[in-house]
Amino acid sequence: MIIRKLKLVNFRNYKKIDISFDKKINIFIGDNAQGKTNILESIYFLALTKSYRTMDINLINKNSQATKVKGEIKSENIYKSLSVEFSKEKKECKINNNEVKKISDYITNLNVILTCPEDINILQGTPAERRNFLNIELSQISKNYIKKYNEFNRILKIRNNYLKMIYNSSGVDMRYLESVTENLVEREIDIYQERKRFIDFINDRISSIYEDISGIKNFKVSYVTNVDLDDFSKEKIREKLIAKYKNSLKKEIENGMTLYGPHRDDLAFLIEYDDIKLYGSQGQQKLAIIALKLSEIEIFKEITGTYPIILLDDIFSELDAKNRNKLIQHINKDIQVIITSNDTRGINKKFLNNAKIFKVIDGNIYEKVVGNNGK
Ligand SMILES: Nc1ncnc2c1ncn2[C@@H]1O[C@H](COP(=O)(O)OP(=O)(O)OP(=O)(O)O)[C@@H](O)[C@H]1O
Ligand SMILES: [Mg+2]
Repeated sequence: MIIRKLKLVNFRNYKKIDISFDKKINIFIGDNAQGKTNILESIYFLALTKSYRTMDINLINKNSQATKVKGEIKSENIYKSLSVEFSKEKKECKINNNEVKKISDYITNLNVILTCPEDINILQGTPAERRNFLNIELSQISKNYIKKYNEFNRILKIRNNYLKMIYNSSGVDMRYLESVTENLVEREIDIYQERKRFIDFINDRISSIYEDISGIKNFKVSYVTNVDLDDFSKEKIREKLIAKYKNSLKKEIENGMTLYGPHRDDLAFLIEYDDIKLYGSQGQQKLAIIALKLSEIEIFKEITGTYPIILLDDIFSELDAKNRNKLIQHINKDIQVIITSNDTRGINKKFLNNAKIFKVIDGNIYEKVVGNNGK
């Protein structure tokens, strides 16, 4: 899929701008604090209806009360217009000017893979940040995942409240807890299976990509559940979970919360058996994140039928020339990429000649005609 046009109204430091993208390579060049990342953030916001780096309220231009992002998308020869309008009072998402109420019907329409400096938190941050990564990626490609995940959270709250109630009073209905637990388990099965499938997909590719860009072999992502799942069939997951909840009932009542389940999942990024978070150099860690994002490209294609749009924020400044070229080779397919960079120095000439280049100066955007562009 590609984004053909983008319109921003009162988004961050942009008052009102329209951008037409190239169907392949787009590069936004500019000094610090001019608005380069804001462009990528607006596309991410259009895709997922939230920012990845701030609370939504900060997206509204400081002198305004509301913001609007609108994009024209082309996916498998179907044209769509998407928009998100946001103010303190409301958030409204539209497809072809019709309001879409259900978030799962909206966010599967525009698929993006973003690589940005904040990504390092996927490695170095808390397990919650790694689960957040899984949730964001899976909700873009699976309506079933969003549905089951939302149901899971709703039932989890009910179960936790009931566990607290049991602790505080006698004569409670244990059959009710059993039925809530069964309902919870059914949603957990889907979440575990979808996460496992996604991580398996990643592992089919990440080792060779990482070896190519870093020279290091045997990199993999390990899925860490707190219920020791080894067989991910429906029946086996159900069996394990029911037994786990049965054996931990006393402990869960004492704690007043559900201690086992996908809300406690984690990921480990391993070279051989060593966690890269503990042993990897900064450069190795950055490349690991890039390999992770690159390995997702084919998964999106396989599941959705079309390549996602790749957003690369400030990625070149962190890589040496050799790695920059390696990265370019990996994205040099029939994929739309939108890149930010402080300058064009060090970017492969051939790549630059095929790119549409935009200069960003203080919330204004100027198109530059370079090389083959504009023919
Ligand atoms: N809500 C807002 N209203 C107005 N201006 C804002 C708002 N939020 C951020 N800005 C401004 O946007 C600019 C930062 O934009 P952005 O993060 O896109 O910079 P950048 O070009 O990516 O810079 P760098 O190269 O340092 O990453 C800053 O000048 C900041 O003051
Ligand atoms: Mg930036």
